[in-house]
Amino acid sequence: MGLKVAIIEGRGKLGGTCLNVGCMPSKALLHASELYDAAANGELAAMGVEVTTKLNLPQMMKQKADSVEALTKGVEFLMKKNKVEYIKGWGRIAGPGKVVVKTEDGAESTLETKNIVIATGSEPTPLPGVTVDNQRVVDSTGALVLPEVPKSLIVVGAGVIGLELGSVWRRLGAEVTVVEYLDRILPGTDDEVAKAFQRILVKQGFKFKLGAKVTGAMATAKQAQLTVEPVAGGPAETLQADYVLVAIGRRPFTEGLGLETVGITPDKRGVIANDHFKTSAPGVWVVGDVTSGPMLAHKAEDEGVACIELIAGKAGHVNYGIIPGVIYTKPEVATVGQTEEQLKAAGVAYKIGKFPFAANSRAKINHEGDGFVKVLADAKTDQILGVHMIGPNVGDMIGEYCVAMEFGGASEDVARTCHPHPTRSEALRQAAMGVEGWTMQA
Ligand code: NAI
Repeated sequence: MGLKVAIIEGRGKLGGTCLNVGCMPSKALLHASELYDAAANGELAAMGVEVTTKLNLPQMMKQKADSVEALTKGVEFLMKKNKVEYIKGWGRIAGPGKVVVKTEDGAESTLETKNIVIATGSEPTPLPGVTVDNQRVVDSTGALVLPEVPKSLIVVGAGVIGLELGSVWRRLGAEVTVVEYLDRILPGTDDEVAKAFQRILVKQGFKFKLGAKVTGAMATAKQAQLTVEPVAGGPAETLQADYVLVAIGRRPFTEGLGLETVGITPDKRGVIANDHFKTSAPGVWVVGDVTSGPMLAHKAEDEGVACIELIAGKAGHVNYGIIPGVIYTKPEVATVGQTEEQLKAAGVAYKIGKFPFAANSRAKINHEGDGFVKVLADAKTDQILGVHMIGPNVGDMIGEYCVAMEFGGASEDVARTCHPHPTRSEALRQAAMGVEGWTMQA
């Protein structure tokens, strides 16, 4: 866009939470632990591949760290290639158009600019009464580097982090109990999907304690103890485990940012409000986890692009109605658009098309028949309003529906589009056919 750009980063590595301590390292462990699980728990043997498995946790951690390192270097290379100046240090706004950077050696320098974009992300939400020491009581960052496989792991929070990292350690041998405040897992996700997913996780060995409030935690050198009370009332109980993972959400990170110098006050959750990425201060913009909307890397990425387009005087836009969400467990969960509950609440008349992976030939021969695709379409216009799936690789396949929805597509558009056989993507088409009642493969 022809702008002169400097990026200030205090971590010492580019890529933020996602690349350093979020999406990427967790996916590295999810991939490796999935292979281990298939080998160790008889899945491979059932297909005639007999192996003796031995976990080498340090090597699993090393390949994760190596991949993350390579990716951070890759981002650094992209900054260079695109002539973005990378300044290592912590940035602080010091009035309109001024940013002070403090480098590791304590030296401070001031940059002057027309536009400041705040993209400082988020940090784990603390749980009152519970101290995260990242030894026995860990947050998502600590759970990515446990020094051993816990015999027992308690996860507080049945959200995305809890279920993904809980899956990693369960596959490697931990007994995992998830304690959740609400009476359901994955709040905000389509009810039917959340319920079906919970059943699948229970089959895999997860234990759930729903409607349970954590009131305190105590850690010793060897164990952690958690006090838990039923939300509905009743006696408290003490749970013990080798490790406790606290994953009850994230909150915007704005510490030491000098927002007061430009008159920006975050709301009580710490969120910096925006109107088309503009904050209340002229020349100060905001994108990503630190502002409103889902805390997802791809949402932040799209906001970054649109924000810079607006700064450069071009049109910039994010369609918040079509931001997919994926949980990278096995099977995966992928959703986009509105849930059935949201459509009901809004009084929208809708039709449902559903197709189980058990009836998809490719999933069946791969022994991956768990889950289904559910398509919600407007009852009158047939426009696709939401898609919710559990199944093999649905995270990679949801993009098809994102495109269809961006084009204002109808379920019939997907239903009449030729899909390759035999692939799991056929299930997506069969579900679309189901909206008009002409599913053919089930
Ligand atoms: P989350 O918001 O997904 O889930 C937090 C869970 O904790 C909720 O179910 C909530 O009801 C529960 N909870 C809250 N307070 C509690 C308490 N006191 N006791 C027991 N349960 C309690 O948050 P999570 O899993 O920590 O993830 C943080 C953020 O990172 C989310 O915005 C998520 O979307 C993002 N993320 C996305 C991933 C992906 O896209 N695959 C992977 C990991 C994280």
